[in-house]
Amino acid sequence: MAEQKATNITWHEHKIAREDREALLNQKGVLLWFTGLSASGKSTVANEVTYQLHQIGKLTYVLDGDNIRHGLNKNLGFSPEDREENIRRISEVGNLFADAGLITTTAFISPYRKDRDAARELLGDGRFVEIYVKASIDICEKRDPKGLYQKAKNGVIKEFTGISAPYEEPLKPEIVLDADTMTIEEEVRMVIDYLKEKKIIA
Ligand code: ADX
Repeated sequence: MAEQKATNITWHEHKIAREDREALLNQKGVLLWFTGLSASGKSTVANEVTYQLHQIGKLTYVLDGDNIRHGLNKNLGFSPEDREENIRRISEVGNLFADAGLITTTAFISPYRKDRDAARELLGDGRFVEIYVKASIDICEKRDPKGLYQKAKNGVIKEFTGISAPYEEPLKPEIVLDADTMTIEEEVRMVIDYLKEKKIIA
């Protein structure tokens, strides 16, 4: 947990509440939290889910690991402390987006259970959907679209998730996508079906 440094600050309630925005948008503001190894397909599925939701008139936004690390989190690396801060900031931003009424997707490795659990707690009941994109390390290594696994194995990249840094599997995710056997289409369908079942979208 980040330290509260500022003092003499007051929380303000606003005239327009989340429920008002949700009614306007005809959807529920949630955070769809994709987690999994690098090259498991998180970004691809998150993007495709977002695209399909957009096609049916839903307001969405994607927060993507590599992109966010170019801006908001450009001062963070891959030590456990930096990853914690990375996920903390994304959780806060994701919480704001969900509060704005958007169906927000995040695609970060987010390897530490405690960091994901902190996001779950921040969002609250029913607003945090943990989606484990479960791909074996073998498959991720074979895919290796950015050549990073090879570099990690050669020791060129240190603290690489799955090779020289841990990945803690979710214990009770809302959705598990078996990326070794499912097609992208099947994975997307499973997520969209869940959103309908939970009445996040009509
Ligand atoms: S997280 O662990 O803090 O959640 P994040 O999802 O933001 O990671 O970034 C992961 C991406 O950064 C990977 O997909 C990969 O492209 C790149 N990357 C560079 N170095 C590392 C590393 N040491 N471990 C994992 N990913 C890395």
